Amino acid sequence: MTQKYGIIGWPLGHTLSPTLHNSGFKRLGIDAEYVAWPLEPVGLSDFMQRFRDDKVQGLSVTIPHKRTVMRFLDEMTFRAKSVGAVNTIFWREGVVWGENTDVDGLIEPLRLLKKLPESALVLGAGGAARAAVVGLRELEVGEIIVANRTRSKAEILGHDFNIRVVDWEKRHELSPGIILNTTPLGMSGDMVGLTPWEGDFPTGSIVYDIVYNPLRTRLLNEAEQAGCTVIEGIEMFLHQGLAQFRLWTGRKYDAGKARKVLLEALG
Ligand code: ATR
Repeated sequence: MTQKYGIIGWPLGHTLSPTLHNSGFKRLGIDAEYVAWPLEPVGLSDFMQRFRDDKVQGLSVTIPHKRTVMRFLDEMTFRAKSVGAVNTIFWREGVVWGENTDVDGLIEPLRLLKKLPESALVLGAGGAARAAVVGLRELEVGEIIVANRTRSKAEILGHDFNIRVVDWEKRHELSPGIILNTTPLGMSGDMVGLTPWEGDFPTGSIVYDIVYNPLRTRLLNEAEQAGCTVIEGIEMFLHQGLAQFRLWTGRKYDAGKARKVLLEALG
């Protein structure tokens, strides 16, 4: 029987996840289908019951369900607990688990670097920023600093992870080795002309944007012109998805081939 997978979120809008996973199933000859399930918050409880009854094999979870879904799970991985959010649901021996593969997505492109800087500035303090901090910790980046438009939210993150908080207005006074944007500034639509970094770029810094539409944000263009190493958001999206695919199927979908499919879909 065809195995069922999907993504829940609201509003779901356009998502590349079906493209990624369905192309992987096809390429590896797996009899499975991945669909988009737009799901309002009020429907989450019923949906999770159906998930169990219908034996849906796995779920991707996106905004606004990443935290609220946790109460419908049997177990959570250490990473999901550390982040305090779940983006992946999978079965193991009849038990429903929550995992956070945003952490894999975030760290995978950084692992490829010859040398990792000793400090990182995380811009933003939402769920993606929390996954970023957990990932940077796993990579043993020595100093992690957070700056967020709303200082109180950065304070919570600073408290939870014991990291330094800097005022949003003072972020340009820092010289971090990695600048990591987790805000939507630069995203296609109203935000496309905006950037979370308006100062000079620290010499030799790595600038990583988790926004992937457009592929090249204003932040990345300006960073590249300034001679920085840039990492596109599509890398994080790709690797969080490939980690989900491995959890669900036990199979490895080649990153190069999957990236090609995503880039084609993004035009
Ligand atoms: P996610 O879970 O994807 O991280 P989120 O929880 O909505 O999404 O977080 C978005 C982050 O981007 C927040 O830190 C938000 O800052 P606030 O806490 O002040 O809302 C930040 N953000 C959103 N729009 C922004 C803007 N125009 N300028 C600066 N930061 C912005």
